[in-house]
Amino acid sequence: MSENTQIVPADSFESMIGSGRTAELLESAKPFIELMMHNECVLRELETKLNILNDEFSTLYNYNPIESIKTRVKDPISIVEKMQRKGVVPTVENIENTLNDIAGVRVICSFPEDIYAIADILTSQDDVTLLKRKDYIANPKPNGYRSLHLIVGIPIFLSTGKKMMKAEVQFRTIAMDFWASLDHKLKYKHNVKDPKDIAKMLKECADSINELDYRMQDIHNRIRRENDETFESNS
Ligand code: GTP
Ligand code: MG
Repeated sequence: MSENTQIVPADSFESMIGSGRTAELLESAKPFIELMMHNECVLRELETKLNILNDEFSTLYNYNPIESIKTRVKDPISIVEKMQRKGVVPTVENIENTLNDIAGVRVICSFPEDIYAIADILTSQDDVTLLKRKDYIANPKPNGYRSLHLIVGIPIFLSTGKKMMKAEVQFRTIAMDFWASLDHKLKYKHNVKDPKDIAKMLKECADSINELDYRMQDIHNRIRRENDETFESNS
């Protein structure tokens, strides 16, 4: 079965199962299942890299810049829907070439400065290539959305050799993540009486959160500075 195999449409799924052609169905799904597995591998690699950095910061500076890491492989229905939106036939090859976010990592940091520090360290690693960078913290979306988005290229090593993969890595503070989950919920609630008013309130919250993030950053920097001075004067 070639890489050009199109994901089997639902009606032919049923006819295959109905006619006892399960083996054929499974065979035709193999390239797609492999693609999903390769994306799981990329996520494991990125998660390990990020955990190593967090552990190193913890050992060297007694500080964890990363609060949590979430990973997900895009589900098949969302993949097909996104391909349809982009007007591209959802063959396995086209999916690989068109979508950058089949593998997605969300890195939740305590402070904005941690986001830039970890993103820079990650993308300066030999095997990580920065393909695209969108800084929605410096340039928030009109609705107030803030995060740093990277598309990175990274190899995985299989029995057949090296394969280059892509992943989307989103960096946010805890507060930005709190905001984004509420905003995300709004997208799926169609029975909201006054969506404009809610959007306005959300935008105001996004701006307050931004101010709070940087004030918390200032307090954190001050505590660290004062502790470093105490440490130096005691040694
Ligand atoms: P798509 O990948 O097709 O969505 O387009 P794009 O590459 O231009 O997207 P972008 O990098 O702007 O955003 C990709 C992802 O960021 C989305 O799938 C969401 O997870 C997140 N995101 C972007 N904008 C928003 C937003 O306004 N609210 C929330 N909650 N999440 C957002
Ligand atoms: Mg995207």
